[in-house]
Amino acid sequence: MRGSLIRALTGALGLITAAAGQLATAGPVAADSVVVGGRPARITDAPWVVALSSRDRFGGTRAGQFCGGVVVAPTKVLTAAHCLGREVLGGEPWEVRDFVAIAGRAALSGHEGQEVRISDAWVNPDYDPTTNSGDLAVLTLVSALPQSYVIGVARSGDAAYASGTEADVYGWGDTTGNGAYASALRTARVQVLPDSACERAYPGGFGVRYQRGTMLCAGDPRGGKDACQGDSGGPLVAKGLLVGLVSWGSGCGQAENPGVYTRVSAVLPEHF
Ligand code: ARG
Repeated sequence: MRGSLIRALTGALGLITAAAGQLATAGPVAADSVVVGGRPARITDAPWVVALSSRDRFGGTRAGQFCGGVVVAPTKVLTAAHCLGREVLGGEPWEVRDFVAIAGRAALSGHEGQEVRISDAWVNPDYDPTTNSGDLAVLTLVSALPQSYVIGVARSGDAAYASGTEADVYGWGDTTGNGAYASALRTARVQVLPDSACERAYPGGFGVRYQRGTMLCAGDPRGGKDACQGDSGGPLVAKGLLVGLVSWGSGCGQAENPGVYTRVSAVLPEHF
């Protein structure tokens, strides 16, 4: 079973989609498993984290949250391309009439911060839904967020990408691997892992293959801390800079199956 059944697409509200034609399943998780193994995060400490929401599509109990995103300019939010798939949204992004980014709010039940409509979505044309390579999209907001919400993006070669670097992942996703979605923002401390760790975990064949050019490997070498379903599109931050977006993994928080992130520096076009 190890590495064979890859749960790669968004799992919000049971909307689990198969990747690479495989059935999505839950893998075993560590008992104390953002985010699994995480802790509550204050939005003032991480103002660049946003929740992507559609109450029409996902229901109102968790403010319609279905993926994460990250503010990289006052009107630009990065997320995972797979968050905008037809299987997730039920149509094209512009057809989701109440599609908003919720900024400045940690508790999904609260009214802090603001909800900003999304006017445009650019999906990386090189995104490959069967391999998850290039899993990145850029959303344009109808109105600008404060400049203080913006996080810098690490360029390729930045020390933040070095293996062993401590990194924090943020999200409102499953905290157990069993569909226990968080109602408030959480964060978990992981580390950038060598590409070889994910190449070993995800060699391809029956499962999805890790590709070092466009993906980034991160996790807890002892297991227990990881992103999970519903965290997709959310940020992985190292040395104060954005290095990755939550993309996929097998199960959540298993030492032998690290989290796979979009390598933002390799996938984000220069002009954004
Ligand atoms: N694909 C998931 C999502 O859409 C994210 C899975 C991340 N899994 C992991 N073990 N790091 O929310």
